[in-house]
Amino acid sequence: MFRIAAVIAKNFNDRVIAPSLLAADFSRIHEEVSRAIHAGADWMHLDVMDGHFVDNISFGPAIVQTVHETNDIFLDVHLMISRPDHYLQRFIAAGSDLITVHVEADHDVAETLRRIREAGCQVGLALNPATPISAVEPFLDQIDLLLCMTVVPGFGGQAFMPEVLEKIQAAVKIRETKNLSYHVEVDGGIDAVTAARCYAAGANVMVAGSSTFRAPDMAAAVTAIRNA
Ligand code: DX5
Ligand code: ZN
Repeated sequence: MFRIAAVIAKNFNDRVIAPSLLAADFSRIHEEVSRAIHAGADWMHLDVMDGHFVDNISFGPAIVQTVHETNDIFLDVHLMISRPDHYLQRFIAAGSDLITVHVEADHDVAETLRRIREAGCQVGLALNPATPISAVEPFLDQIDLLLCMTVVPGFGGQAFMPEVLEKIQAAVKIRETKNLSYHVEVDGGIDAVTAARCYAAGANVMVAGSSTFRAPDMAAAVTAIRNA
C-alpha cells in the first residue's frame, strides 16, 4: 500500500495519540484500525508479547504486516519480547515505522538500536515502572522515543502508576540539559484524566488501549485525550 505517514515530526509539544490494537476486536483487525484512523488516531500502537518477557502472548510480525498492508497509519511497534535482536529483522520487514525495544530484555541494547536506525525505522527504547532512568541514560542519544511504561507490561486495562510521573519529568530534563531529541511516550492506564498528568510531566505521546477502543464513541475518546 502507498504510504504517506512514515515521517514523524520532532516537535515535543505536538501531542500524538496512539490507540493500542491490543484492546481491539481481533476478529476484525482491518476494520478496527480503520475505526481508529477515522477517530483521529495519529499512530497505531502494536503490542508484541512473547509469553516470556511478559506473562502474555499477543501477536507477531504477520499481524504487523497485515495492519501495514490494509491501512495507512504510522506503526508504533512495541516489542515486549526477551530477544528483540533475534526477531528484529522480521518486524522491520513487516512494515514497522518505529520499533521500541525494552532496556530490560536480553540483548546488546546499543547494537539493537543501531540496527533499527540502519534499517530506516524510527528508534524507541522502553523501560518498566521499576527500572530507573539511569538504565536508559547511556542510550538516550541513539533514540527518537523513550517509552516510560505506566503499568507493568503484559496486559491492557491496568491502573496507571502515578509514581512514574517523576521519571517522565527526569527524562524531559535530561533531554533539555543534554540537548537530545526524543519523544516521551507513556503506555498503560492512559485516559483523559491520566493523560493530563502525563502532559503536565512532559510526555507527548499517549498510548491508550481500553480507553479508546472500548469507548462508546472512539472519536470523542481520542479527542478527549488529545485535549486533556
Ligand atoms: C501493556 C501494553 C499496553 C496496553 C495498554 O503491556 O504495552 O500498550 O495495550 O492498554 P491500556 O491502555 O488498556 O492500559
Ligand atoms: Zn505497549
